[in-house]
Amino acid sequence: EIPGGANFQVPDPLEGPRAAAKLCTHCHLHGPASQTVFGDGRADAKLVFVGEQPGDQEDIQGKPFVGPAGQLFDEILGEVGIDRSETYVTNSVKHFKFEPRGARRIHRKPDAGEVQLCRWWVEKEIALIRPKLVVALGATAAFSLLDRNVGIMRERGSIHTRARDSLPVLLTYHPSFLLRIREADEAARQRANFTSDLRQARDWLE
Ligand code: URA
Repeated sequence: EIPGGANFQVPDPLEGPRAAAKLCTHCHLHGPASQTVFGDGRADAKLVFVGEQPGDQEDIQGKPFVGPAGQLFDEILGEVGIDRSETYVTNSVKHFKFEPRGARRIHRKPDAGEVQLCRWWVEKEIALIRPKLVVALGATAAFSLLDRNVGIMRERGSIHTRARDSLPVLLTYHPSFLLRIREADEAARQRANFTSDLRQARDWLE
């Protein structure tokens, strides 16, 4: 019997790490960023998505994938029938890395050392959630999760099961890659690839 009966609130196992990550100074990126952007979603999610790092909007709002890439991501999740609120969404690096340019802050890609230093947090999230499938959105997430350089154009759509914990990792594009494609036919073709990868992810929910 659970002490407290029906009123017992199951503690959120991510609460401790989330609070601790707020104070993280493990790498130098915490200095210029506004805040740590920890993962968001269900602690018992079957599906976890891992991106690269928070962007400008995420840094301001404190939540992952809420800017332009997040909006496209939400749109395609809707198309394939994945309810984002049933999943958990996080990033390989928890602070926004940028270069100030006038009033704007231009995204800079985290380097391998920064990804390695931040890996501890994403691995903690995965270990506590124990999802059925993790989706790596882009090469940075693939490097964080698989500890090797991944050619995402070549390997997208494939699943790699990690030897150390048997975790299946599905590789796909980062949604911001789709936003950068100028040519309409190519944009449509790559969006269809990304959509098909997310459909594959959805099938793991059944
Ligand atoms: N890009 C990412 O990789 N993560 C975010 O949270 C937003 C944009």
